[in-house]
Amino acid sequence: MLILGIETSCDETAAAVMLDGRTELSNVIASQIDVHEVFGGVVPEIASRHHLTTINGVVEAALGGAGVSSDKIDAIAVTKGPGLVGAILIGLATAKAMAFALGKPLVGVHHIRGHICAALIEHKELEPPFLALAVSGGHTSLIDVRNLSGSPGDMFVLGSTRDDAAGEAYDKVARVLGLGYPGGPKVDALAKEGDPGAVFFKRVMLEDGSLDFSFSGLKTGVMNYVNSRRQSGQPVNEADVAAGFQEAVIDVLSAKTRMALQITGHKSLALVGGVAANSALRTRLEADAGQAGVRLYIPSPVYCTDNAAMIACAGYYQYMAGLRDSLALDAFATLPL
Ligand code: KG4
Ligand code: ZN
Repeated sequence: MLILGIETSCDETAAAVMLDGRTELSNVIASQIDVHEVFGGVVPEIASRHHLTTINGVVEAALGGAGVSSDKIDAIAVTKGPGLVGAILIGLATAKAMAFALGKPLVGVHHIRGHICAALIEHKELEPPFLALAVSGGHTSLIDVRNLSGSPGDMFVLGSTRDDAAGEAYDKVARVLGLGYPGGPKVDALAKEGDPGAVFFKRVMLEDGSLDFSFSGLKTGVMNYVNSRRQSGQPVNEADVAAGFQEAVIDVLSAKTRMALQITGHKSLALVGGVAANSALRTRLEADAGQAGVRLYIPSPVYCTDNAAMIACAGYYQYMAGLRDSLALDAFATLPL
C-alpha cells in the first residue's frame, strides 16, 4: 500500500511516500526558515505564497525519490488542520487536484495525529495502546492512544495547554533573549551553557490532579525578569535564564506525564512534536520512563518537527480503517483530535 503524504500546515512544505504505513520510501522537506527569520516568526501570508511556489516540486521530488509514478499511489493523505489556514489550503488544493486527476482516494489527517504516528515510523514494535506527549509550537497535550483508526474515541485527550503551547513559550523566550527564530533549538543550545538552578521560574501545575498545562505565566515571568533587570541596568545571564526556563518547562511536562502514566497504566510512552527534539526533555523523560518501567519512544529529530512521512503514516491507518474524504474537504485553523 503506497500513500503519498502532503503537509503544509506551517512553514515546511513537505511530501513523502510511505509503503504500508511505516516504511519510508521518500521524505522531502522544504523549509522556509530563512524566509521568516528576518521577521522573527512565521508570517502566514508569506508562508502560503512559498508553499504555492514550492509544493509541485516537492511532490515531484517525493515521487521521484521513492521511484514511483503518481498512478501507482493508492491514496493521498493531506494535513487538513489545525494550523495556518492559508498554508493548509495549498497542500489541500494540491492533494485534491491529484486525487481528482488520478482518481485516487483522499484522506484528511489531523496534524497532531501525524505527530503521534511519527513515533511509529522508526519503532516498528510500537503499537497502541500507548500514552503520547505531543509538544509542538501549537500544541501541548497528553493523549491516550487507543487505536489509530481515525474514528471518534480512538485517541482521548487527557490534558492540554490552556494558553501557550510549550514550543510557543520557547519561541517567545528566545525572542526576548534576542536569539531569533525558530527559538526552540536556540534556547536548547544556550541552556547547555547555563545553570538551571541560578534563576527560578514558577512551575504552574494548576488544580490537583489536572493533566492540563499552562505556560503563559512562565513566559511572562521570564519576560518580566529580563526586562526589569535590563531597565535597572543589571546584567542578564542569558544562558542561566534559558536553562532556568527550560528546567521549569521540563519539570511540568515530566510531572504531568508521570501522572498520566499512573492513571492510564500504559507501559509505552511516545514523545512527539517539534519540542520532542529538545535534548534536555529527551534525557529527562528517558530517566522518568526508566524509573516507571515504561518504554519510551522518541522519533529522530527529522520526524519530530513537521514532515509529511508522519502524515502519510497516519493517513495509512485511517485509510485501512475505511476513512475517506470527499473533494469538498476543508482546511481548519483549529480542529479537535
Ligand atoms: O511540530 P513543529 O515542527 O510545528 C508545529 O506543529 O508547531 O514544532 C515547532 C516547535 C517550535 O516552537 C520550535 O521552537 C520547537 O518546536 N522546537 C524546539 C526544539 N526544536 C524545535 N523546542 C525546544 N527544543 C528544541 N530542540
Ligand atoms: Zn507540527
